Amino acid sequence: MGFMKIYVSKHWKLFLVAVFFVTLEALADLLQPTIMSHILDVGVAEKRLDYVLRMGGLMLIITAFGAVAASMRNIVASHVSQKFGTELRRDLFEKIQALSFANIEQFERASLITRLTNDVTQVQNFVNGLMRIFVKAPLLCIGSLIMAVRLNPHLSVVLLIVVPVVSVLVALNLKVGFARFVGVQKSLDSVNRVMREYLSGVRVVKAFNRFDHETGKFQQANIEYQNKSIQVTRLLAIFNPSILLSVNFGIAAVLWLGASRVSNNQMQVGHIVAFVNYMTQILFALMTISMVFNLFVRAKASANRIGEVFDQVNTMTWDANTALPTGRQGCQIDFEHVSFSYEGASGEPVLKNINLTCLPGETIGIIGSTGSGKSSLVNLIPRFYDVSSGSIRVDGVDTQELDPAKLRDRIAIVPQKSILFSGTIEENLLWGNEHASREEIMQAANMAEAHSFIAAFPEGYETMLGQRGVNLSGGQKQRLSIARALIRKPDVLILDDCTSALDTTTETNIKESLKSFASGVTCLLIAQRITSVMDADKIVVMDDGEIVGIGTHEALMKSCRVYVEIFQSQFGKELPHHVKAE
Ligand code: GTP
Ligand code: MG
Repeated sequence: MGFMKIYVSKHWKLFLVAVFFVTLEALADLLQPTIMSHILDVGVAEKRLDYVLRMGGLMLIITAFGAVAASMRNIVASHVSQKFGTELRRDLFEKIQALSFANIEQFERASLITRLTNDVTQVQNFVNGLMRIFVKAPLLCIGSLIMAVRLNPHLSVVLLIVVPVVSVLVALNLKVGFARFVGVQKSLDSVNRVMREYLSGVRVVKAFNRFDHETGKFQQANIEYQNKSIQVTRLLAIFNPSILLSVNFGIAAVLWLGASRVSNNQMQVGHIVAFVNYMTQILFALMTISMVFNLFVRAKASANRIGEVFDQVNTMTWDANTALPTGRQGCQIDFEHVSFSYEGASGEPVLKNINLTCLPGETIGIIGSTGSGKSSLVNLIPRFYDVSSGSIRVDGVDTQELDPAKLRDRIAIVPQKSILFSGTIEENLLWGNEHASREEIMQAANMAEAHSFIAAFPEGYETMLGQRGVNLSGGQKQRLSIARALIRKPDVLILDDCTSALDTTTETNIKESLKSFASGVTCLLIAQRITSVMDADKIVVMDDGEIVGIGTHEALMKSCRVYVEIFQSQFGKELPHHVKAE
């Protein structure tokens, strides 16, 4: 909840303005019954029409005054709460953007969305309500009490009993209800979670016909939500009528007490009317307070969830003064005793004692069985994650001291899973370099063997892609993401298994174009097929998080058992002819 301080310090002045108008409004409400009693007791009782008219006029003016105040506080409250909501959403978004992968992985991705939307709205609604009715309720409650006691101390005896009884009821309601309301909120969360999981995996659910399973899961969460909600409703079903009953008893007592005093000529009728009015206002205020409580519990749960995101301390630090040496083409990358685990230093290591030097302009092939840590290795270079121990140097500078944004400026990466965004093909390619010209875009697309299929679309480079590029095939997506990386003209190019969905001819063509492009660029090329890496300057063989061989194809065939095994699994025992020929 600490994050609220910023917004409080920013908006408290306007907030107070809204509270000021609410106070005026409450004052107007409080004056009405008293004036009413004067009209009855003086105007009606003494048949003085002029007095009735005068007081009636006064009532009208006060009502108008209250209405103006109400409009004003509405305007101010909407302004403040909307501004607050927008700012909170913006700050939360920026916070999420600034977080490292390690931080973000503490949350379910989908839950970050709920926090950004639903949770912010809950808090915003509460702040809005706070300025509109919530402040008014206690004001009316206390104000009515004071006015009633001043109006007629004798009748106030009733209040002496009713108010404590109702207060105890409201307090009990809050105490018993709080835990239950939190429970409702939690079970609503799990309904959301089940639904989100279902929707993100809907294709798989359909493919495996897991409807019954999913429906069961959903129903379970749904029933849980129902049960929790019923519990709360039951609670309200007991408390609300009890509060109502107590107040009505009080009103009956006032009428009875009042009537006996009126008949003794100790009191006038108007006082009874006004007194009953004040009691209804007290009732209204108390009801509002218990409603506020419902909203408050939700807002508090939401605020806690938002706070959890704000509380994340970015684990990635850097020295703003450190920069990479400029004027060189192709960076040297040194891994020195690098170990890495996704769960931080204590977790199971995914990479163990990696030592590797990539010279400027070299092409390094990386091969190894699935899960051996190839992607993890290259993802450390742009600092998507930080090493657990050891160091990675780029041109002699430890990446731990470098601003990740500056480091990533020099690197282009083609991720294993092609990720494109909704927008035109051209817009997607410009991600690589927003200043690229049309010629540069086409040149890169040509190298990535993407130009021909793009040109075949009726709208060419202006073709709109759906979210994640759904309207493209796997191979088309891969080629676009290669082109996107090439446009960047990087010093380091990382290709993570980016030709897995391409046929061999296309792959060979791309490799040919890359050869001329990559001269001078340090290139790390992960592949499943040996033929994809065979002609690299160096091949790194990975097995279970360790490097088990570094060398050329020929050297590895002689010295590295794992490499030979991969080779044999792909070609059989015999060397095929075209390999021998190389
Ligand atoms: P392929 O891409 O299938 O060829 O495998 P790879 O060699 O690229 O393996 P990768 O580096 O992706 O994974 C190595 C190990 O790290 C595996 O045991 C994974 O379970 C684990 N791993 C990979 N990505 C993540 C991640 O984002 N979070 C966590 N916690 N573990 C991961
Ligand atoms: Mg991988």
